[in-house]
Amino acid sequence: MPRLAVLGHPVAHSLSPAMQTAALKEMGLAGEWSYEAIDVQPDEFKRVVHGLPAGGFEGANVTIPHKHAALEIADDASDRARAIGAANTLSFGGGRIAAENTDAPGLIAALPDPPAGHRALVLGAGGAARAAAWALADAGAAVWVWNRTHSKTERLAEELGVRPVEPEATHRPIQLNRFELVVNATSVGLEPSNREGADLKALHLDADSFTDQHLVVDLAYGSSETELVRAAREGGAQVIDGREILVHQGAQSLHIWTKREPPLETMREAIQAAGSRRMATDES
Ligand code: ATR
Repeated sequence: MPRLAVLGHPVAHSLSPAMQTAALKEMGLAGEWSYEAIDVQPDEFKRVVHGLPAGGFEGANVTIPHKHAALEIADDASDRARAIGAANTLSFGGGRIAAENTDAPGLIAALPDPPAGHRALVLGAGGAARAAAWALADAGAAVWVWNRTHSKTERLAEELGVRPVEPEATHRPIQLNRFELVVNATSVGLEPSNREGADLKALHLDADSFTDQHLVVDLAYGSSETELVRAAREGGAQVIDGREILVHQGAQSLHIWTKREPPLETMREAIQAAGSRRMATDES
């Protein structure tokens, strides 16, 4: 029976096992395939991954903090994973390890329309921002990047051929009327904000600058709505939260392993149910 897993540290809170198990069941593969979470310490990653094929594993999703290590360990990495510098999907076959990045196409698939020709602002300069900036530029958007630490903005912009947002001398908020698409790929919003307005301030955004001309994607998601999502909604913007990207990246990984079309709606419902269960447990 082929096994699949998500490797991370910590990984107990991952919604992937619930989502992927529900998908496998709906696809009629639950008796054949299984999906579990494995907590792997960074210094154990190589050893654990090399041992997976012998344990019956066909593949694995990889999450924080192993996405760079997943690329490094691969015998065959896709051009996309190489360009982004990170992989979230490993496949084992023929004694080799193949690496792919489905975060990038997952983001594009989660958008209501193709972003070609639109102006996009990516907030952040870590691994998630790299995948988002690469994906949007590859899909034909004009991409700008802003990050708290400007030197990292410049490095990312140069490496990926996108544009840096220059820090405003006056430290005014970023002018959002220049963009149609805004993607938060920082970790701001992962933890509930302790002071009203603090998250938007950290992102150099003004709550009043969102309009119905904006599509806002927040890769950060927790048990409650982020401040960014709330402000965007209140301004009339269309909003996509990180769970939708999780669904699409997971579906694309599942397609790589099973060669079948995963059921997106079932995956959404499973995330919703697992998220609610989690909230109930966290609160008790
Ligand atoms: P990931 O791989 O998930 O992208 P990461 O590499 O740790 O994670 O990146 C975290 C991102 O969130 C960075 O862009 C970081 O900005 P810095 O480069 O300046 O550190 C951003 N970030 C984290 N906390 C932040 C805060 N309080 N305000 C603004 N940006 C923040």
